[in-house]
This record gives sequence, C-alpha cells and structure tokens, in this order.
Amino acid sequence: MTPIGKSVDRVDGRLKVTGAAPYAADNNPPGLAYGYLVTSTVGRGVVTGMDTAAAAASPGVLAVYTPFNPLKLFAYGQEQNDERIPPLQDKEVRYFGQPIGFVVAESFEQARDAATLVRATYEQQPPVTAALAATHVEQTDEQPDTVLADGVSSFAQAFNAGDVTFTATYSTPVQHHCAMEPHATVAAWNGDHLTVYTVTQGVVLVVRRLSETLGIDAAKIHVFSPHVGGGFGGKWGNWAQVPLACAAAKALGRPVKAVLSREQVFAVAGHRPMTKQTISLACTADGTLTAISNDGVSGKSLAGNWSESVANWTLTTYASPNIRTSKTTMPMNLGAATVMRAPGEANGSFALESAMDELAGQLGMDPIALRLKNYATVVPNTGKAWSSKHLDECYRRGAEEFGWNARPAKPRATVEGDWLVGTGMGTATYGASRGQASTKVRLHADGTATVSGTAADLGTGQYTVFAILAADVLGIPVTRVRPELGDSASPTAANAGGSNSTCTNGPAVQVAAQAARAEIVKLATTNEKSPFYGKEVVYRDGSISSGGLTMSFGTLLTTCDVGSVEAVGTSPKLTDPDHAFRSFGAHFCEVRVHRWTGEPRVTRWLTYVDAGTIVNVKAARSQIQGAVVMGIGQALLEATEVDQATARFANGNLGSYLVPVHADIPPIDVRFLDHPDPLISGLGARGIGELGIVGVAGAIANAVYHATGVRVRELPITLEKLLDAV
Ligand code: MOS
Repeated sequence: MTPIGKSVDRVDGRLKVTGAAPYAADNNPPGLAYGYLVTSTVGRGVVTGMDTAAAAASPGVLAVYTPFNPLKLFAYGQEQNDERIPPLQDKEVRYFGQPIGFVVAESFEQARDAATLVRATYEQQPPVTAALAATHVEQTDEQPDTVLADGVSSFAQAFNAGDVTFTATYSTPVQHHCAMEPHATVAAWNGDHLTVYTVTQGVVLVVRRLSETLGIDAAKIHVFSPHVGGGFGGKWGNWAQVPLACAAAKALGRPVKAVLSREQVFAVAGHRPMTKQTISLACTADGTLTAISNDGVSGKSLAGNWSESVANWTLTTYASPNIRTSKTTMPMNLGAATVMRAPGEANGSFALESAMDELAGQLGMDPIALRLKNYATVVPNTGKAWSSKHLDECYRRGAEEFGWNARPAKPRATVEGDWLVGTGMGTATYGASRGQASTKVRLHADGTATVSGTAADLGTGQYTVFAILAADVLGIPVTRVRPELGDSASPTAANAGGSNSTCTNGPAVQVAAQAARAEIVKLATTNEKSPFYGKEVVYRDGSISSGGLTMSFGTLLTTCDVGSVEAVGTSPKLTDPDHAFRSFGAHFCEVRVHRWTGEPRVTRWLTYVDAGTIVNVKAARSQIQGAVVMGIGQALLEATEVDQATARFANGNLGSYLVPVHADIPPIDVRFLDHPDPLISGLGARGIGELGIVGVAGAIANAVYHATGVRVRELPITLEKLLDAV
C-alpha cells in the first residue's frame, strides 16, 4: 500500500508542538555574544557622523561597528532578491531603518540598550516615495511583450475593433511577509571554518552568499537550518544580520547571535512592492476576447534590484489573438523589495480576475462562462502546449459543488438580515518547473532509513514528503524513515522557492531510494555472511527474499555486521522545450458585507486544485488553506502604510499591520483533482505552495461587488471603501 496520495501526519509535528524543534535563534554555542542592529532614522541621505562613545562604554559592550568602523565585507556578486550592497560598507542611507551600526555585547539586552545610545548625524534629503516616484522617477525596466494576429498592425487597432471594450486600473499596496519566526543568525568560527545557524529558504543560498561576502571558500562554511518558522519569500535573500553576525564573530573570536526585532524585520528584511495595473480587454458580442493588455507598474527599492513583473500573468491566462503587456518600475527610498508568495502573480491575478468579472457584467454573461469561452488550450502568448491542464474541470466541478449555478446574475440581490451577501470566483494558475536535485538514502541495521538533502521545510510539509516518497520505494512504514533537511553538508537539493520543492526533490528522493535498494540487494548477494550469498533475490516491503527465506534489511545488515548502506541519487533538471508547465485551480467564495458598517466578512470558501499528483493530501490541503488565508489578508486587511514625508513604514509591526486571525477565516474546503502530470516527472507532481493565493483577492473583490454593487479596485478592500455605498 503506497503512502502517496494519502493523508499523513507531519513527521516533524510532535517536535514542533512540544517546542523541541530547534530554530536558528535556539542555538547557544559556548561563549556566545549578542549583536543588535542600529538603524537609520532618516529615509534618504548620508551619515555624516556617529557618536558611539556612550554605547561603547555601556555595560557588557564588546564592539560597536559602523560605516566609520566597519566589518569588512566584499560586494555581493550574485542576485538574491535582497540588498544590492552588504551592510555598513558605505555611508549612504537608502531607506528608513537601514542598518548603520551593529553593537555586540555579552547579552541581548545589553546590546539592545547600547544600540539606543548610538547617535548618528545625517545630511538629509527628501526621500523618494510613491507620490514623488510617480511623477519623477518612472523607469521602464523590461521590453513590452506583444503578440498580434496576422494582419493586425498595432494593439490599439485590435482593441478599438472590439464590439465591447473595457479598461480599468487596479492597485495594490506594499505588503509584508509576516512569518512568525523573526530573522535570526548564529555564527561560530573554529579556526577558519564557519558554522552558521540561520533562517533561510535554502542553506545553499547562505553558503554562496557568505562565501562571496566574507571572501572564504564555500567548503569552509557549514550552514544549518533544520526548522524555519515561515518564509513566504522573505527568507530567500540573506539580510543584514547574516553577514554581520559572521564577520563580528570572526573579529571578536566569539560566536555571535543576531536576532532582528519585529520592527527591524519590517524595515530590513524585504517586502512586496506596491503595484498598479491598467488592464484593457476587448471582445466580440458573444464574449470572445480579441485583445488583452496589461500595463504593469511595480515599486522598486533604491537599495535593491527586484520588482514585481505584475503584468506577466496576463500573458498566460486567457486566449486572445492580440496580447500586450508592459512593465514600468518606480524606484523609491524603501528597504529592498523582494519575492513574496506568488510574486507578480498574486497581484497580477487580482487585476485580471477583477477585470474579467467586470467584463462579464458588461456582457451580461456568467463569469465562469466567460472564462470557459476564452479557455487557453495552449499558452496564449507562445502557442506552446500545456503538459497537463484540467482547469476547466476545476471550474465545472467547483461551480457544481459550491452551488454557483443558483447565483443571481445581478449584484446586490441577496440580503440576509443586516448583511448583503455575494459570491465570487477567481482563477488560480502558477508556474511549475523541475530543477536538478540530489538526495541520499541510508538504510540502517535497526530497520530504519534516513533520507537527506539540503532542502528546507518552512512549515510546508517537505520533511513529510521526503519520508513518504522514501518509504514508498523502500516498502516500509513512513514512521521508519527519518528525513534530514537544512544541512549544507547534505547532497544539494532544491531550495524552498517558486513552489519547486516537491516537484524537484520528490523525484530525487525516489532515485536515491531506488539506489539504496540496489545497494542492499548487492550486500545480500555478495557479502559472505549473508544467507543470500550468491543467490537470486527479490526486494519487497523492506525485506530481501529468496526461495522460502525472507529477511528484513535491518536483520540482514545486522547479520552481515554492516552498520548501514547508502546511496546518493540525482534527478536531472527537466528540459522540455515543447511544453509549458503550470498548476491550476479555481476559487469560489461567499462574502457578506454589513449594511450599516460596511464590514466585509468572508463566510464560505471552496478551492479546486489541479496540480498533478498530490503526495500528502493532508499537508497539501494545509498549504492551499494557508495560501487562501494569506490571500484573504491581501484582499481585506494587509497594507504597509508608507509615511510620505519620512519614507518610514508607519505600521511596520504586528500590532498595526493587520493579518487575518482565526475569526476572519471561514472553513476552507480544498478539493484536489487527481491527474498526475506525466511530463513533469515520473512522480507527476507539480507545485502547490503559491498556487493557492493566486486568484483569491480577485474572487473576494468579485464577491464584494456581487454583494454590494461596489467595485473596489484598490486593495485592501476595507470598510471605508464600502461605507458610502452600503
Ligand atoms: Mo517564494 S515567494 O517562491 O520564495
């Protein structure tokens, strides 16, 4: 009985609920000192001086590093969606809250107290924020992408020829990842060897970054990150505390721990930039799309390189003979913008899914009928075939099971007591890919197996995926497999990003487990102490057998006096130029808006998912539910307010940046189609981590419109925006 496709409890669940799972900040090597960031109190300018005398004289202080007395760090070579320049290496202030100092002391409290005593003087300039950026600094980063039908000379020509046309602009604010675990790094040197415990979406990313910025050989760096308390993109880059802890530990000859405060996480450790999209749709009278365009604008940081390619989702979602997108960025004095769950696509889908609903209204057509009419049977902008796509089944089954078809066509048609009731839907799609990955499987004399790789489990269930897939090939219970993740000494597997972990690492676990089976068979037939010596054997359900004799691999290893056998397996990167790979889904929701207060509440949810093979239904459901929760936050609550005068994140803390709590979330019903994708891998699994948030905000905006007749095109949909109309 294979455990694939069943519901398996998380193998790390007990460790987590008992508090036994070690996170980065839980590591306390002997002789530990504590580092604390000093951050800028202006949004743009130059640090002209820093008075560190009081801090240096403060109890327990070991060192105060500043741009005038820096820890030497080499320039970053590789782009990692974080800051362009390592901390303290120059005196320019590019954003409010930028690290301009690092105080190291005997205790965390002493370091934090001393940090408040550092006085900086600045030559200030007015920071560039959205208001200023919009009028002064717009800059186009990427070429427009245009596909035109034969005989069409311009997109405008195609658009203007439509029987029905629609144009509107949608915007989204700065948002933050808000992972529960704040950013933390512990660094300890032994001679010229460095050991690092840190938060990260991939230990390999940390090794590479530290090798370049510390100027040491990657082979001398050992990074551990076995448990991570949420990432969502915010722990892909290596932020200031990573190199500072390592360099200070070297300079002081003592291990150093650096943990960011929650406010520092907001300022220093990345955010999702603001975006704006102007969507234009043209169609024939029967709803057949003839032209689609999206002019996307993304905020960008003067401290980083990254911005959201927010219009790209429009290129691949609905069929149209004429498609056009563009991208413009607005560099600002904010901390580095970075990837955040479904970068570009969570926001991209909000605009297009809202616009499709608006067009359906204009046509008097059902929103699902409009989507099915324009179903993309091939990739719209390239004409490439999909590896496997059952989005239409998600629409149809979802509609049936949600009760969509009983929905009144007109908005504001259902009132229940003080609540206006509406329903909405949105499409989810997210790219899938399979990279190269290696893992190692080892069979032990006690009958257990270990499976290891540098992969990360951010709370996603990756540990359990490793255990399930190894157990399946080895034919033993999942409970007898111990997965080991987050150790840079393991074979190189996929980092946790781009919904890529199971897709990429899954096949590598299968290959390694098959190789380990071959090793135990070889031992059985070639070891002179083995009862199977020189015989023909079969491996089945964790045992070797021949004739009437069956022996478990543990007993065989014991009999042969061998502690373990192991094998490394590598699954290559997938190259398939003929197919496009995406996961698909459809969201259906009910929203109630209070008639007198305008308060929106999400009250019912159904998501249908087409992501190929689902390895662990229980954890996959949690992944989609978590993404829907994050999408509900995006739609109704989340916005980081930028003070336009100082460029400070005015609500950069969990007290005033609103994320959904349990009371905001209805039961979320998640259903999976079972269509393995034979082209992505033998396992047939595409990604699910980010898919679940795509289309959520659009579905909610559409339901709010259906409930109230009010179309909100600026996220979040707060009650202020509904109050006048209800
Ligand atoms: Mo995630 S936003 O793919 O790190």
